[in-house]
Amino acid sequence: MRLIVCDNQQEIANVGADMIAEVVAANPAAVLGLATGSTPVPMYQELIRRYEAGKLDFSSVRSVNLDEYYPLAPDNDQSYRYFMNHQLFDHINIDKNNTNVPDGLAADPAAACKAYECIIRDLGGIDIQVLGIGGNGHIGFNEPAEALDPLTHLTDLTEDTIKANSRFFESEADVPRCALTMGIGTILSARRIMLIATGEAKAKAIATVLSGKLTTFCPASMLSLHNDVTVICDRAAVSLCDEATIAALS
Ligand code: GLP
Repeated sequence: MRLIVCDNQQEIANVGADMIAEVVAANPAAVLGLATGSTPVPMYQELIRRYEAGKLDFSSVRSVNLDEYYPLAPDNDQSYRYFMNHQLFDHINIDKNNTNVPDGLAADPAAACKAYECIIRDLGGIDIQVLGIGGNGHIGFNEPAEALDPLTHLTDLTEDTIKANSRFFESEADVPRCALTMGIGTILSARRIMLIATGEAKAKAIATVLSGKLTTFCPASMLSLHNDVTVICDRAAVSLCDEATIAALS
């Protein structure tokens, strides 16, 4: 695990965009694993800037998103499909037919989850997976629990997550109680992983991740099982880590 501590949002956005640009330069038809949440937004804005400047071409790029609320229609303005269209896809030259987000209206969610795994396999796997992290250590919607699911699955959201995400909805009651999410194994099968975390609210989870110990009660800690993970943080997100840990990973 490699740690990059940045001084501000723009530096985080640049480091993240550099990693994505490197992957796309190596393979113009790369498969990007993408994430929602407020954390990756500055990086998406940087990718848009580079596309507009003619430095990045997404015409052959494919993408798979981590998760989607369930049940929620793709055109609902709180859906992750809507988020991706508005924050990134509508502003770059990616072919929307090459973008994949789990189907928040799937009649048979179990079948949709199986099909999502097939999509990822048929694309040849994920070249780089972008991740944010929940304050409780969740990645995608893999919530802290006694046991974690390896593959894409339907999951219940925890009260913590419903509360944290209610800021985007009119009221807490409007937050869907379930989601479809890639599993921990799906995430770990990506060739490279980038985890971005900013702010004090993520400090406890980041300290657990960087400790290198595994616990299902901090699903992001499972990233220590992967051999190519870059954690990009601001100072607040590493404020509960000791200097020796930071130095050893930097
Ligand atoms: C949601 C998403 C996660 C995301 C998390 C953190 O729950 N399912 O993928 O990492 O929120 O969001 P934020 O970046 O807004 O803190």
